[in-house]
Amino acid sequence: MTAITKSVDLDRRGRVAVLTVNNPPVNALSQHVRQGLYEGLKQAISDSAVQAIVIVCAGRTFIAGADITEFGKPPADPSLHTVLDIIEASPKPVVAAIHGTALGGGLEVTLACHSRVGVKDARFGLPEVKLGLLPGAGGTQRLPRVVGVEKALSMMVSGDPIRADEALKAGLVDEIVDGDLTAAGVAFAEKALSEKRPLKKIRDLDDKLAAVRGKPEVFANFRKSVARQTRGFRAPENIVKAVEAAVSLPFETGLKRERELFVELLNSPESKAQRYFFFAEREAAKIPDVPPDTPAKEIKKAAVIGAGTMGGGIAMNFANVGIPVTVVEVQQEALDRGLGIVRKNYETTASRGRLTMADVEKRMGLIRGTTDFNAIADADIVIEAVFEEMPIKKEVFAKIDKIAKPDAVLATNTSTLDVNEIASATSRPESVIGTHFFSPANVMRLLENVRGAKSSKTAIATAMAVGRRINKVPVLVGVCYGFVGNRMLHQRGIQAEKLILEGALPHQVDRVLYDFGFPMGPFAMGDLAGLDVGWRIRKGRGVKSPVADRICELGRFGQKTGAGYYKYDEKRNPTPDPDVEKIIVDVSTEMGITRRPISDEEILQRLLYPMVNEGAKILEEKMALRASDIDVIWVYGYGWPVYRGGPMFWADSIGLEALRDTMLGFQRKTGDAFWTPAPLLNRLADAGKGFLDR
Ligand SMILES: NC(=O)c1ccc[n+]([C@@H]2O[C@H](COP(=O)([O-])OP(=O)(O)OC[C@H]3O[C@@H](n4cnc5c(N)ncnc54)[C@H](O)[C@@H]3O)[C@@H](O)[C@H]2O)c1
Repeated sequence: MTAITKSVDLDRRGRVAVLTVNNPPVNALSQHVRQGLYEGLKQAISDSAVQAIVIVCAGRTFIAGADITEFGKPPADPSLHTVLDIIEASPKPVVAAIHGTALGGGLEVTLACHSRVGVKDARFGLPEVKLGLLPGAGGTQRLPRVVGVEKALSMMVSGDPIRADEALKAGLVDEIVDGDLTAAGVAFAEKALSEKRPLKKIRDLDDKLAAVRGKPEVFANFRKSVARQTRGFRAPENIVKAVEAAVSLPFETGLKRERELFVELLNSPESKAQRYFFFAEREAAKIPDVPPDTPAKEIKKAAVIGAGTMGGGIAMNFANVGIPVTVVEVQQEALDRGLGIVRKNYETTASRGRLTMADVEKRMGLIRGTTDFNAIADADIVIEAVFEEMPIKKEVFAKIDKIAKPDAVLATNTSTLDVNEIASATSRPESVIGTHFFSPANVMRLLENVRGAKSSKTAIATAMAVGRRINKVPVLVGVCYGFVGNRMLHQRGIQAEKLILEGALPHQVDRVLYDFGFPMGPFAMGDLAGLDVGWRIRKGRGVKSPVADRICELGRFGQKTGAGYYKYDEKRNPTPDPDVEKIIVDVSTEMGITRRPISDEEILQRLLYPMVNEGAKILEEKMALRASDIDVIWVYGYGWPVYRGGPMFWADSIGLEALRDTMLGFQRKTGDAFWTPAPLLNRLADAGKGFLDR
């Protein structure tokens, strides 16, 4: 065995050379891997004793993509293109032997090989779209030649990997193998040699492209089918264009077109935002004073108190990953109703083919409902999701304190109450932490973990780890009203209400945010969540919201009653309602406001700048660890379009000085102290800096 570089070895098995990549943890395509492959191939090709070459990886996976530490640095030779060229041009057959995941550049390496074999649990994908890019080493030209245009489009535009059986069916792998992978790769190469199989270069294949040549409807239909998911993103369209080029141009010209389309994406604001966000998400996992080696409690059993809207969804998260969970309710009826909804949710997923009925039963089997509070005694984490009232929460925590294991983590799902006060109801405030799930709790990825004044490092490490275990994106925040997400949302809500009183209508406000990239605007969101919730809270606190109150007084609670800010048909499609317009205009008149046309630009600024300003206060108060954490919260919890990075990244891209000055302009016009820039915003604006380069 010869070490070519620190991560690539060259070995000989009879007449077959074996190049083994060993670059833990995921065999990323670092410079020394590219160099090793290149030099190793050169040696094997010039070695007359070698007649075929196998590329295989050590460790848990085949090459799973680019080396992210090289992102943003000048390219180091050899480029991936150079490596792929020498593989493809090799006069001796090159076989990729694949296990784990062949992703991105890793899959591109295999596409330059003349054959591919894989183990049955291997997966294959080109996820570049998730960073706003396209597979830029010939992937857009090669993949459709092997698997056909439609399959290639769907793989590259979704970015999701496919399994080995699907890859075999699509022609992406030649054979599924088992046993020792290197031996299987060598055996395949031997067979190819003894059968004198001609070298199959993907670049020379044409039959699958010919099948769609002159059929532009294939692309038109594809574009239509993904229009909703890809709205606002730039990469999907460039991928489609690159595949169109694969069909209509010779391979080399297609590669040039791919390059142009790639460079366009690389320089696009969308991809910059998506690449920023990729790192932002990783950063959110890091907590400076709770290092990764902080012992986290292993969660073997969980308990949820309350089987309402949130409790049921939270319990599903545990069952989905195989953790048994006990759900405690006060009354049998509420328990039956709650678990009934959980079952219905699972059955709906099964009816769409995304779960089998056996899975449904397995998951339901992991959820144990009871009205006996003592059943939480063996839980490693107890998550409270009862009514949002402090006396009830305190009573429940006092009870949990008496029954839960001494080392259990005690979590509250409160969205507005003081976690420290809740913790004070126990004899162990260090074990108490907030785990703020978002509705629907089984779907939304965001988890705001709320650090109480006394929360222990173990409680924090556990809440972060368990969040990841149940497939959430946990972000640590501090105790303040509304935490980070809802606190910022509240500022947006204030302006949304003012805007409709001053002259805009709900559908205009909503459209502006929809066009910005949100799935919906504040009024459509209110209708979806139910307007009665906020109404009840306002009544309890003696607060008024003139338009919303009047709408609720008519029994218009949103989608569930067929009307709210909008009218809904039986399919819940909204249309603007003249009755609501009349209410709004009446309220404006009663308040002595002269309505005026309001531009889309003003609407956007008035909705989003206050959020940024609140974000600045949150940062200064250290309620979020970093600006990028706020962005993660907004993308995963509120549908902020990831191709705009998040509110703080977006603010930086506008420029904080311009943003601050626009706020001051609103303040001059209205005299409203609401528009006072946060001290941090002022300081950064004066210094010509952004939130992210603080
Ligand atoms: N609904 C949301 O969108 C949302 C989002 C995030 C957080 N939250 C928070 O989650 C918590 C629960 O909200 P929800 O919307 O699920 O409320 P919900 O009214 O739907 O459910 C609360 C459940 O708790 C049960 N309950 C009340 N007291 C109990 C007790 N002593 N022991 C056991 N069960 C008890 C009730 O019977 C009810 O089923 C609240 O703190 C809320 O602020 C809600």
